[in-house]
Amino acid sequence: MKKNSPLEIRAIGRGERRVAVDILSRFFREEGFAGDRRYIQKNVDLMLEEGNLVALAWYEGEVAGVATGSSGVFVEWGKQVEIGDLYVAPDFRNLGIARALIEYAFDWCRKIGATSAVVETTEEGRSLHGLKEFYSQFGFKDDQRVIYMKPNLKKKRTRPPSYSRNRVRALSV
Ligand SMILES: CC(C)(COP(=O)(O)OP(=O)(O)OC[C@H]1O[C@@H](n2cnc3c(N)ncnc32)[C@H](O)[C@@H]1OP(=O)(O)O)[C@@H](O)C(=O)NCCC(=O)NCCS
Repeated sequence: MKKNSPLEIRAIGRGERRVAVDILSRFFREEGFAGDRRYIQKNVDLMLEEGNLVALAWYEGEVAGVATGSSGVFVEWGKQVEIGDLYVAPDFRNLGIARALIEYAFDWCRKIGATSAVVETTEEGRSLHGLKEFYSQFGFKDDQRVIYMKPNLKKKRTRPPSYSRNRVRALSV
């Protein structure tokens, strides 16, 4: 970023959680994602406790955009970061703010020792917002994998596991 640029990207400090939750709530509302303010606040707190990234873009002193980075470790990839929640408020679009947020997130990935980054898009995001083209300019490639999500893990299983003693015995012979 140039000196004297009106744009500043930085990871949020303790006192900035509320503004981060404000812009994330706006993002979720506009895009129709599930999750009220309390839910978003709880997850932002958890992300920060676990050392993840919540970065804000400030344009002439106003909050203009947000991006997050959540790291995980995988046998296949080593340390990898999912860059998520990328959002630029409508009044600030086409000023290069998303680009600056992504570059900032890439720098953070390198700093924590991650060797790759992923983004997730919805069918709607790809067809209505052209997100495949948007992300491809930053080097993201569609690797043809599909994510299957198991939600509600807190709910206890309602059916007992379906193995029988006879079957276990038969398998061990
Ligand atoms: C997508 C979004 C983040 C782009 O933000 P932005 O700040 O306007 O983007 P930038 O100005 O940094 O654009 C960077 C480049 O991407 C291009 N671009 C912007 N939006 C694009 C889109 N929807 N599709 C393809 N290219 C796009 C710009 O032309 C620019 O190219 P250039 O650098 O060659 O000029 C913003 O429109 C947004 O928040 N949309 C709603 C939320 C969303 O879809 N988030 C992604 C969730 S996975």
